[in-house]
Amino acid sequence: MNGSSDSNMTLTTPRKVIFDTDPGVDDAMALYYALAHPDLEVMGITTTFGNVWVDQATTNALYLCHLTGRTIPVAQGADRPTVKTAEAPPDFIHGTDGLGNLPQRSAVLAQADPRPAAQFIVDMARQFPGEMTLVAVGPLGNLAAALQLAPELPTLVHEVILMGGTVIESGNVSPVAEANIWNDPHAADAVFTAGWPLTMVGLDVTHQVILPLALFQQLAAHHQHPATDALAHAVAFYSDFYRQHDPLLGQAIGCYGHDVLAFVVLTNPELFTLQTGRVRVAVDGLAQGQTMMQRKKVSYPQQGWHDDIPHTQVCLAVQAQACQAVIEHTLMRPWLGASKVR
Ligand code: BDR
Ligand code: CA
Repeated sequence: MNGSSDSNMTLTTPRKVIFDTDPGVDDAMALYYALAHPDLEVMGITTTFGNVWVDQATTNALYLCHLTGRTIPVAQGADRPTVKTAEAPPDFIHGTDGLGNLPQRSAVLAQADPRPAAQFIVDMARQFPGEMTLVAVGPLGNLAAALQLAPELPTLVHEVILMGGTVIESGNVSPVAEANIWNDPHAADAVFTAGWPLTMVGLDVTHQVILPLALFQQLAAHHQHPATDALAHAVAFYSDFYRQHDPLLGQAIGCYGHDVLAFVVLTNPELFTLQTGRVRVAVDGLAQGQTMMQRKKVSYPQQGWHDDIPHTQVCLAVQAQACQAVIEHTLMRPWLGASKVR
């Protein structure tokens, strides 16, 4: 990670990014952040099942591009976990449509890229060797499939940042598992052991950053644009879930921004405390989906923990208020042109 070191944003060559996502309300926030930030260039979006089924994820990715007036390739990917049986999407968190049940949608003419997501990732990595950053914020089947297609992929990409997992904080789908890892633990373990520069942004930090609903309402009032209107609607639905079900939020009317933090760690790494160590995923049993981190610098002789297992940089703490300020500052920028959406 070598993003701009202050929240005023220095001009650097924008980092080329592929956004692997299951939109998803916080996925939409993350996409907007990436589109708004001058140091990031979204070269493609790959979709996966997770918050919604994959067809809906693709529909949403295309719709978010349409709303924001961007033409970005969208390639559809994993429609189910690698090994385990798929579970119904959490419509009570993100809405049946993944965007808080939008009351209406305008027509979208753009079509998905004909290539499967994994092929798209491989093609882009080969076209821009050493330049692509993969930011993955859903179940990790697309990245695992890309590794199968091109085992040399870790040498071709610049780095991988994923939102998923947890080390110390409790899980959000079981006492130890975070949703993205739970949804495809086999794929996640392949990603953690692939040997690419990898940063994990898990619940240890995303549960520290509460984004008030009022922020998204202010954004909508500020931009007066269909893209931010839709996001404010979606966040209202999402915040309602958290208000009813997550005592950690207390009386706050707001939500966790989970996925957007995968981009904030790229643009503002100084806001995070990271520790490096091996991470493995429990693929079945009671601990299924747990991300287990080796935090002590010792050699373990046990199978699966040998010294040749690659390391992951894990975010363990975050400056929450500064992080929120960066998100607000970025989304308030004049990044949306005049809307063509009627
Ligand atoms: C993760 O799971 C999904 O519901 C969110 O979009 C985020 O990627 C949080 O556990
Ligand atoms: Ca997500």
